[in-house]
Amino acid sequence: MTAAASRSEALASAGTAEPEWLWRSGSLVPWREARVHVNAVGHASVAAVFEGVKAYLAADGRRLLVFRLEDHLRRLYDSARICRLALPYDLDTLRGAVCGLLTANGYRQDAYLRPWAFPQGVIREQMVPAGTICEVLVDSWPFRSLLEAGGGCRAAVSSWQRISEAAMPPRVKAFSNYHNGRLALMEARENGHDWPIMLNERAKVSEGAGACLALVRDGEVVTPSLTSGVLPGITRDTVLTLLRDLGVRVREREVDRSELYLADELFFMGTAWEILPVTAVDGLTVGDGVPGPLSRRLAAAYTDLVRGRDGRHRHWLTEVPLP
Ligand SMILES: Cc1ncc(COP(=O)(O)O)c(C=O)c1O
Repeated sequence: MTAAASRSEALASAGTAEPEWLWRSGSLVPWREARVHVNAVGHASVAAVFEGVKAYLAADGRRLLVFRLEDHLRRLYDSARICRLALPYDLDTLRGAVCGLLTANGYRQDAYLRPWAFPQGVIREQMVPAGTICEVLVDSWPFRSLLEAGGGCRAAVSSWQRISEAAMPPRVKAFSNYHNGRLALMEARENGHDWPIMLNERAKVSEGAGACLALVRDGEVVTPSLTSGVLPGITRDTVLTLLRDLGVRVREREVDRSELYLADELFFMGTAWEILPVTAVDGLTVGDGVPGPLSRRLAAAYTDLVRGRDGRHRHWLTEVPLP
């Protein structure tokens, strides 16, 4: 199996795990018994917002470190606000929910967390009304980090356009927005690539199906600005901080498609993808066709950070003792 295929498999297979517990609206409930009435399915999928968070096993093997939990929860509230959904829990409660769930499920390995919220109760309106109170859930499952796996992926610019601020705000992490990335992903796979890159309504580079994107040229890192139709990625922000720590020049601006073809290095960045180098774009080799030196350096710095070896950004780590 190629490195790209094993990365894809690791990303895709994570969701089959059945943990013992799930956090639901204030308490831990057995995962298998967490059900909703069938009536909720349509509304839950159209008007639901979520987050994807990772808890890494610390390098000392004694604790889990939830990475940038507060920032993820803040983005959940931002998404809910834009969608006019009411979350009846404050940030401290949700932070406690995440930590308590990790302990209850007994994780002694890397775990992925999905806090999410959907309109509660029976809704018969065609459109979920503004201010609808949501149920809030936190689900979790083990995952295999790809940070030390090496390898890269083949990307292609999609014929599907990234959703725009004028129609479906891309800064909202809503399940319904993912139909856009899903169409692009299926097209990419159909054409023999691993992941799509989407352009926005101005034909400028936006992001991948579930990760932001950056290119390296002449020692400078360039990433599409936050008004290019991207989710304000927490990994993107982390990477920009790490690059500044490393003394690398960073620019956030509009990016043309043809700049991708001239890049020395190209990489996706996201909670799920972590740092994923792109080794070919639209069939053109990027750099030497293997992950470039800066991508590798960044992946190492990111690993040190999330595993607690680099103490410089300790405030980004929420410690949970192993059970
Ligand atoms: C559409 C999209 N863009 C970007 C990202 C990266 O965001 P983050 O780094 O906060 O995970 C994600 C991650 O979920 C995403 O779904």
